[in-house]
Amino acid sequence: MSSRVLSGMRPTGRLHIGHLEGALSSWKELQTRHECFYFIADWHALTTNYADPSQIKESIYEMVADWIACGIDPEKSVIFQQSRVKEHSELTLLLAMITPLSWLERVPSYKEMREALKNRDLSTYGFLGYPLLQTADIIMYKADYVPVGEDQVPHIELTRKIVRRFNNFYGETFPEPQPMLTKAPKILGTDGRKMSKSYENAIFLSDTPEEITKKIMPMYTDPQRLRRTDPGNPDICGIYYLHKLYSAPGDIEMVNTECRRAGIGCVDCKKLLLPKLLEALAPIREKREELIRSKDYLEDVIAEGTKRAAEVAGETMQEVRSKLGLTH
Ligand code: TRP
Ligand code: SF4
Repeated sequence: MSSRVLSGMRPTGRLHIGHLEGALSSWKELQTRHECFYFIADWHALTTNYADPSQIKESIYEMVADWIACGIDPEKSVIFQQSRVKEHSELTLLLAMITPLSWLERVPSYKEMREALKNRDLSTYGFLGYPLLQTADIIMYKADYVPVGEDQVPHIELTRKIVRRFNNFYGETFPEPQPMLTKAPKILGTDGRKMSKSYENAIFLSDTPEEITKKIMPMYTDPQRLRRTDPGNPDICGIYYLHKLYSAPGDIEMVNTECRRAGIGCVDCKKLLLPKLLEALAPIREKREELIRSKDYLEDVIAEGTKRAAEVAGETMQEVRSKLGLTH
């Protein structure tokens, strides 16, 4: 049997080109070679957004529409919703019994995010325990590979540690999952910082050509290029990063040389990029517009995927319960 891949995303809003070029392009490619489970991590969204869950429901449809529009194929991959497979909560509870508190307190994102999101109180039990929920998500499906960004690697390391402890106590049950680093081409937001919804600097997959144009034309470039005659450095320019993803090899080469000797100005450079970017994003936007209008279809996809996920989860939990003396 082919190996199994599992990954998830929190439903916190519309996706942008950072998600497309990072996670989703890998997810799409993986589904041709592996049995893939991709899930909507709605319980995870609550670990940080518990005080205002009003956006979650709508975000789920937006996110699944974005996934499918980017080529995640419900015929090939299992798309499901975490909170509909209650076994995730049961396995999390059982893992909580065997996980030393210090392992959770040591996860780097625990400290970092608590400090970064100062406007929310993250000194909750749910937030501390979220890597356990993530562990349950992964091992429920006995996943071999977990495509994630670099920031998630410590979580997968923790998962591996918990798996070893579980197998050690109760006998070989779960494989140790491997993190699979998704290729993450550099993408900057319109203000030169990392592209992120919370910075309001993102180009969304739902943006119209007019919106994209309005974001690209004033976009931050090499800050040293004050005048048209100043030479620039494409290696630090978000426009150049986009050229590398969307333009023809000849144009990329040209920008790379001409920018450095002030042979091309930023306005022309952006005008060269725009049609290519618009052309690449148009089919995605059209497809996601069509999908978001057919919520019934999206609902079917999620329901079907959840049914399949629940079958696997049911089997895993039967095995786990019996190993822990919990059969009735
Ligand atoms: N923690 C991940 C994030 O915030 C989402 C996630 C939850 C996940 N469970 C997972 C990713 C299991 C991979 C596997 O982005
Ligand atoms: Fe960036 Fe292009 Fe301007 Fe160079 S010419 S700084 S690559 S926008």
